[in-house]
Amino acid sequence: MAYLIEKPLEVSKDHFWLKIRTDSARALPGQFVNIRPREGSAPLIRRPISVFNYSDNIIELIVQLAGEGTKLLCNRPVGEIDIIGPVGKPFSLPQNSRLLLVGGGVGNAPLYYLARELKKNGNDITYIYGARSVGYIFLEEKYRETADNFILMTDDGSKGDKGFATEAAATLPEPGKFDIVYTCGPHYMMKTLTEIMAVAPRIEVSMENYFACGIGLCSGCVVKTSEGHKRACVEGPVMDGKLIVW
Ligand SMILES: Cc1cc2nc3c(=O)[nH]c(=O)nc-3n(C[C@H](O)[C@H](O)[C@H](O)COP(=O)(O)OP(=O)(O)OC[C@H]3O[C@@H](n4cnc5c(N)ncnc54)[C@H](O)[C@@H]3O)c2cc1C
Ligand code: FES
Repeated sequence: MAYLIEKPLEVSKDHFWLKIRTDSARALPGQFVNIRPREGSAPLIRRPISVFNYSDNIIELIVQLAGEGTKLLCNRPVGEIDIIGPVGKPFSLPQNSRLLLVGGGVGNAPLYYLARELKKNGNDITYIYGARSVGYIFLEEKYRETADNFILMTDDGSKGDKGFATEAAATLPEPGKFDIVYTCGPHYMMKTLTEIMAVAPRIEVSMENYFACGIGLCSGCVVKTSEGHKRACVEGPVMDGKLIVW
């Protein structure tokens, strides 16, 4: 059993930071945990949440309030918590490469641990952080520390530059210089980014679409790709963006 070591901390509007001690295997960037929102029978289905950070057996998560399950999670008291994982296909971790990371909203969450690990590997990181407005930006300083070039975008221009993360990507000088592009965020953002950055040799996307069973049994999370249908919960969530039929 895992243990929530602190009361969830609100780090921006409707976003909470959870720290969970676990004796399960080391988490890899891009993996997620399946959490039971509370003890007892309801809600029955576990909620998938990406690993925001990991070190010394502590898994950190950023949870955005969406409905009943996330509300229960963000109001959990310190104590035991039922999680399965970390599970799922992680992002790749190259060395000494030029990399672009683009996050939208809570989709920035899995990209923090990724950026941290990529930095350790001597990569050059450009990070585009997209948020609705200033109140929704979480833990900005931590992101800035990991990036060689950090670009902040808000839809309404209340902080950083005004516009979508994809607009910043479209105006990057030398888009062809990136070896890999990584992204997580709203479906339309990732689709647009995949088109804008088609010149990149590799694009890795984290598909956070609706999951039901979360363990490969129900096909509720199927993603259409040029290689057939794939279940995001077991053949993802990280997938080859160039293969996805958006
Ligand atoms: C692999 C993966 C990783 C994820 N990582 C994170 C994360 O790091 N932080 C985080 O806050 N959320 C993350 N999510 C989304 C999170 O799992 C859902 O927001 C959560 O399950 C909703 O549960 P709920 O009971 O609060 O809301 P529900 O009552 O189930 O739904 C409330 C509303 O949210 C919508 N919704 C439910 N699931 C999703 C989803 N996956 N994407 C978009 N809308 C959804 C519903 O359609 C509904 O409109 C992730 C999802 C996946 C599949
Ligand atoms: S959520 Fe059931 S197969 Fe993926």
